[in-house]
Amino acid sequence: MSSVHVEPCHPHFGARVTGFSITDGVSDADFAQILTAFERYSVVVFPDQPMTRETQVRFAERFGELEIAFSRLSEDEVGKRIAYISNVDSDGKIVPPTNKTMLGHKANSLWHTDSTFKPRTALASLLYAEVVPPSGGETEYVSTRVAWQQLPEDRKELIENLWAIHDFNHSRNKIAPGINSPHIQNLTPDQRRPLVRTNPVNGEKSIYIASHAKAIEGMDDDSAQALLAELTEWCTRDEFVYTHQWREGEMVMWDNRATMHRGRGWNDTEHVRKMHRATVIDPEILDANFGDEQVYAESQAALKPVTREIEENATSTGR
Ligand SMILES: [Fe+2]
Repeated sequence: MSSVHVEPCHPHFGARVTGFSITDGVSDADFAQILTAFERYSVVVFPDQPMTRETQVRFAERFGELEIAFSRLSEDEVGKRIAYISNVDSDGKIVPPTNKTMLGHKANSLWHTDSTFKPRTALASLLYAEVVPPSGGETEYVSTRVAWQQLPEDRKELIENLWAIHDFNHSRNKIAPGINSPHIQNLTPDQRRPLVRTNPVNGEKSIYIASHAKAIEGMDDDSAQALLAELTEWCTRDEFVYTHQWREGEMVMWDNRATMHRGRGWNDTEHVRKMHRATVIDPEILDANFGDEQVYAESQAALKPVTREIEENATSTGR
C-alpha cells in the first residue's frame, strides 16, 4: 500500500506530493504513485524533504540516467551530476552580478525548459533548495500541455509538424552578447526540436519551446521570431503560471516535456540562494541526426573543459 498523498496546487497543473521520506527511502509502491503524479501534474512539489546531495542523486536516478552538469558541484560521481545554481563561491562569499557565471544564471530568468539545446534533452529536473533568500528567488512554472489544449485549432494545425532550432548561445546572447566563448559555441551546436511533443505514457501533447529556440525550419527569420514570441506569450499568460515560493529543504520536480519555467530575481548582492539540480535525461530521441549515442557521448566527454573554461573566466565563484 502507498502512503503518498497528492494535492493539486494550481487549477491547471502542479501538485504537492507528501506522505513519504526521500531520505528514509521510497518504497516501490510510493515511487509508482510519485511517477504517476509527475506524468499527470507535470510539476510536483516535495515539501519538507531535507536531504544530502547523494540522496538527491540516488532518488533522481530512479527516474532514469542523469546528465553530467555544466556548472557542476564537484568532479566526484555525485557532485558532477548536480548543477550548482548559486550566487556564492566555495568560501561562502557572494559573487558580484557581473561575474560570468552569474550572468549565465541570469539567463534562467527567461522562460525556458531545460536542456533543449543538448544532444539529449531532459525528461525531468529535480531542484533542491539548500539556502533561500528571505524574499524573491521564486520559480515560475507554466504548463505547455494546458497551453496546447487551449490553443485555437488553426494555430494547432500551423505548428503541429514544425521543427524549431535550439541554440544555447541564442539564449545567452539575450542576456550578455558574446558571453559564450567560441569554444563553448562549438560544443553546443544547433539542435532540431519538434514544436509539439506527445507524451509517450499518456498521449498528451504539449508545446515545446524555450528561450533557446532561435528559428523554425522552413520559415523566414522574422516570421519565426514572431511565431515563437506569440507562442511564448500564449503559454505564459497569467492563468497558466504557478509561482513557487521556496522553503529550505524542499525539492520541486518538473516535466521538461510539458512545462516552461523561469527564475525570479532577488536581492542577490545581499542574500544567499543555493540550489542543487539533478537532471534526468529523456530516453526519447527527438532527432536521429543529432540525438545518436555517439554525438551524445562526445558531448558528455566535452563538458569537462567547458566547466573548466567557465571557472577560469569566473572571477571568484570556483564553480
Ligand atoms: Fe532551468
